[in-house]
Amino acid sequence: MTIPLRSVRLAVPLSSVLLLAACGSNNSADQSTAASTTTADSTKTTTTMPVSAPFGKTTDGTEVQLFTLRNSSGAQATITNYGGTLTSLMVPDKDGKMGDVILGFDNVSGYQSAEYLKSGPYFGALIGRYGNRIKGGKFTLDGKSYTLAKNNGPNTLHGGKVGYDKVVWQAEPGTSADGQSLKLTYLSKDGEEGYPGNLTVTVVYTLTNDNALKIDYTATTDKATPINLTNHAYFNLNHGAGKDILNHEVTIPADRYTVVDATLIPTGELRPVKGTPFDFTTPHTIGERIAQVPGGYDHNWVLNNASAKMHAAATVYEPVSGRTMEVTTDEPGIQFYTGNFLDGTLKGKAGTTYGKHAGFCLETQHFPDSPNQPKFPNTVLKPGETFRSTSVYKFGVRK
Ligand code: BGC
Repeated sequence: MTIPLRSVRLAVPLSSVLLLAACGSNNSADQSTAASTTTADSTKTTTTMPVSAPFGKTTDGTEVQLFTLRNSSGAQATITNYGGTLTSLMVPDKDGKMGDVILGFDNVSGYQSAEYLKSGPYFGALIGRYGNRIKGGKFTLDGKSYTLAKNNGPNTLHGGKVGYDKVVWQAEPGTSADGQSLKLTYLSKDGEEGYPGNLTVTVVYTLTNDNALKIDYTATTDKATPINLTNHAYFNLNHGAGKDILNHEVTIPADRYTVVDATLIPTGELRPVKGTPFDFTTPHTIGERIAQVPGGYDHNWVLNNASAKMHAAATVYEPVSGRTMEVTTDEPGIQFYTGNFLDGTLKGKAGTTYGKHAGFCLETQHFPDSPNQPKFPNTVLKPGETFRSTSVYKFGVRK
């Protein structure tokens, strides 16, 4: 089902409205959205639907929407059907104050500006058909060679020139015992960006009542195709302070990582992290050893316990806000990227300048370039099979 657009046009930046709404303001735009919330009693199940509001027009004139998911604890997530992009996520700090922990923009034009497209950070977007890089934009499947659109030097990154981050998804708000949700569907046509097969992709974002954002991915195809879906949210657990993320303490339960060449393509080697700046098996701040990693962290960690259906992928703690984030997934890898290519040219929500290390990504995934690495876990989806993957980003506080 679909729901009608809210008729209220926002005269102030959307992030301010969301912030006010979360703080229980009497602002009139707030009242129109508040109609769909329940009380802040976490024992109650959310039964109301997410609301939607206009998020502007894409450069080709398509109107896109912003959906607001709320939970019974007062947290909220906003997602646009442009690129299935998570644009904000308001969660409490150690004093119970709500704050946005996601980098992004107030309207769709921020995600389509010339500067944004030039730097290509993929803020909060859904990534596909194949997340991360494919060497030389080429692979062979069942004896046939495929050539993809190259968009990252000699390689294909995050699906090609027009990946799933740059398309308009069909959106269907919903609700369940878990919380409010948004189902997004996209048909990626046979040959799109060079990939074989009509791939029907469904992604469901659910904001659970215990402050977790759950992302469920499913897909089916009519020809064998590689697939690697993820979300590219940039987190900063103290985003409002305009500081970088070097003070965040990160744990990644991975004894190995995939070594890459100069173009960030895995060489095939799974190298032990022990004794290196890649060892996050115990907590380390991002800044502690980043200078020892040329360019900063932008690597895929090989998660321990990956055979377990859902396993730990990362834990993050930010000491000023006290916020914590725990990532669990059924994927075998995680790309930990520390916003190394952000350079201050992008201005985001509430005028925040996004400089180097303004946010970090934890992209749950299969390993980069798996279609050309037979020893890596399989990424090929065949007709008759259903691709399923789930990742959960759960927020809390440490006092
Ligand atoms: C990649 C980075 C890239 C970033 C934004 C990450 O997933 O690993 O190399 O710069 O996405 O495009």
